[in-house]
Amino acid sequence: MILTLFAGRGNHPLAHAVAARLGITPGRCVLEYFPDGEIHTEIQQEIQGHDVYLIQPTGPPAADHLLQLLLLADACLRAGAGRLTGVIPYFGYARQDRRTHGGEPVGARLMADLLSSRLQRIVTVDLHNPAIEGFFTIPLEHLSAVPLLAEALRAERAADQVIVAPDLGAAKLARQYGEYLNLPVAYVDKVRHSGHEVSVRSVIGEIEGRSPILVDDMISTGGTIISATEALLEKGCRPQIIVAASHTLLAGSVGPRLSGLPVRKILSTDSVPPPCGLVPMKIVSLDQMLAATIIRLHGED
Ligand code: R5P
Repeated sequence: MILTLFAGRGNHPLAHAVAARLGITPGRCVLEYFPDGEIHTEIQQEIQGHDVYLIQPTGPPAADHLLQLLLLADACLRAGAGRLTGVIPYFGYARQDRRTHGGEPVGARLMADLLSSRLQRIVTVDLHNPAIEGFFTIPLEHLSAVPLLAEALRAERAADQVIVAPDLGAAKLARQYGEYLNLPVAYVDKVRHSGHEVSVRSVIGEIEGRSPILVDDMISTGGTIISATEALLEKGCRPQIIVAASHTLLAGSVGPRLSGLPVRKILSTDSVPPPCGLVPMKIVSLDQMLAATIIRLHGED
């Protein structure tokens, strides 16, 4: 089977970097908007029997990027793709993996159903909750950017550091970073009041006089990181804070609040196009890991 890759609009630079690592150029397709806002897509090359990979994170605007991916997938199926894999470096709606109130949907399950209806396999990176894999009726390759980020953190290593989980949901992740870097771990007990508002109940662990490395699967508005940073400073940590997160959206308007804090650097991947300007960022590209996965899957005929 011939390997062909198409890029949605979710992250062109990453898709092109992956294609370059594979020694190919992204396939020719149109992806544009009709005047009424509907998406129009068209595959403009032969893909009959090809092993097709669609690279598209479903980050903001999540609904648009998801629909682009579904329409591209439908177009590829109808054009005779032999096998169709969605490479979704950031999987949006993953935080809606359960209902906290009776009137809510399970958004992550719905997204999985929609994607399973058109794709034959998914490749994704650091799902908010690994159990989401169970929502899919198709095979899912769940990759982790933690080793890449932990390696990048080694360059920032200092004797007085402590890994901090900014909420209890990130505890396991923090222990993983702690083991990679041989650092102690502390935990922030966060309470979420709404999509924008979080507060901190307590900090568990030794952080006084230490430089925190806050680790999380994602930064969305930045509210979690900001609240954790404020709580750690109040408890006497050193104003030398580093943040590592697999996905950094920085959606919303937290900019001024975040840049007013002693966050030295945010380390993240390019699963979504990196935000610029707020805090110094160090981006670790997923291109090599995704290309290696595509090569491995392509070999499994
Ligand atoms: C929550 O469970 C996640 O792991 C992140 O902590 C959270 O989604 C980050 O969101 P925000 O940046 O909006 O606080």
